[in-house]
Amino acid sequence: ARTAAVIPAAGRGVRLGPGAPKALRALNGTPMLIHAVRALAASRAVSLVVVVAPPDGAAEVKSLLDAHALPERTDFLVVPGGDTRQESVKLGLDALPPEYDIVLVHDAARPLVPVDTVDAVIEAVRDGAAAVVPALPLADTVKEVEPAAVPGDPEPVVATPDRARLRAVQTPQGFDRATLVRAHETVTEDVTDDASMVERLGPAVVVVPGHEEAFKVTRPLDLVLAEAVLARRRL
Ligand code: C5P
Repeated sequence: ARTAAVIPAAGRGVRLGPGAPKALRALNGTPMLIHAVRALAASRAVSLVVVVAPPDGAAEVKSLLDAHALPERTDFLVVPGGDTRQESVKLGLDALPPEYDIVLVHDAARPLVPVDTVDAVIEAVRDGAAAVVPALPLADTVKEVEPAAVPGDPEPVVATPDRARLRAVQTPQGFDRATLVRAHETVTEDVTDDASMVERLGPAVVVVPGHEEAFKVTRPLDLVLAEAVLARRRL
């Protein structure tokens, strides 16, 4: 079985504040995207990385990747992305050569995922799961609300799901390629991760343990945390 990774990196990163597309912002001097590509390429099983670039930034991303060393065994491709994460992933899948039968989808915004997490996801797909997600238990209690018509107004609580049964889902998510392609061809509803498309299709999705360092860099505080993690790793 050959494994490729698709890295959607076409988002603007609006919640991070003004500036370059999120994936191109630096963490300790190196673009977030480069950290993410290296994190996936660190797995000996991953022989191709497909980066989905901002639609007007494919050339820039290509030269960034040329300028930063990857392991000898890893090839990469760059394709322009779309308006939504879902479209961007689809465009990445369309670019995959036929010989890859396992696909990982990994957010460029999770630059610090440890290689052991990547390998655990691949292992579970190799063991027969059609779709695998790394996930962690929640620290916070989660409530479902009736969203306020006016942002900032108090929102009525509708329900409190049992926290012990909830998981916060990360990436890379791993798939049998044919299953993920079928999901992208069939499911048209908006989703926030790839595994939920497979859930709608029917095949079982399984969870393996995620890692704290696979957190998503979304808000300004996450940049502080990411740089602190990198500094600690260098010790
Ligand atoms: O917006 P969110 O944080 O869910 O984005 C997750 C990942 O999807 C990011 O790496 C982002 O660059 C990517 N994305 C994309 N194309 C879009 C929107 C988001 O590749 N149109």
